[in-house]
Amino acid sequence: MPVNGLAKRLMGAFALTAVVALGSAQAASAQGAGGGGGGGGGAQAPADPPVIAYRKAVMQANVQHVAALRALLNPANPIKDNDAIKLHAAALENQGKMFAKMWPEGSMGPTSRSKAEIWSNNTDFVARITAFADAGKALDEAAVKGDNTATLAAVTALNATCGACHMPFRGPPIAPAAPAGGAPAAPAPN
Ligand code: HEC
Repeated sequence: MPVNGLAKRLMGAFALTAVVALGSAQAASAQGAGGGGGGGGGAQAPADPPVIAYRKAVMQANVQHVAALRALLNPANPIKDNDAIKLHAAALENQGKMFAKMWPEGSMGPTSRSKAEIWSNNTDFVARITAFADAGKALDEAAVKGDNTATLAAVTALNATCGACHMPFRGPPIAPAAPAGGAPAAPAPN
């Protein structure tokens, strides 16, 4: 190939790389702007320590797996993908196996809604984890059998164990950081 042609191709490749690099930088900053792992967002929100960021991420994954299953199992308009149903159900069962280590003693903080009762009333908290884990196991078993009606009922049963733990052990939403010089913002509605 003439030198000129090679140079042109190299230039083309370089331009493409530059565009890709720019694209991922923008994606990274967009993620940054989202901020705080769901902890309120905004440039002034303090960063989550890893243990708090981690359990918020696991909780958000719970929400998304439940939403995916509800869409897959929609009785009026089901998406016929039994493999996907089984994978999401197995994921929720696995979430239950991770909960036991997600609240090391005293891991509270200004960006966390975890209440002190998690440790002061730990027997009850562990019982809520067990209820969630058992519901995840039942969900997985229903999905493996391929009975969509039973699987959807198992999703609803699992969802009840979320609120049963949140009510006693999760505090109110955290108020967004006050704007500089302004009055403190009202807490976000739950
Ligand atoms: C054993 C107790 C327990 C169970 C079961 C549980 N959660 Fe949570 N969840 C918590 C606690 C405690 C927090 C507060 C975490 C923190 O801020 O430190 C929380 C936080 C959350 C959050 C907010 C996350 C964020 O970004 O701030 C969502 C959403 C959530 N849970 C959804 C769910 C869903 C959906 C389920 C069930 C499929 C579920 N949780 C099951 C205890 C539980």
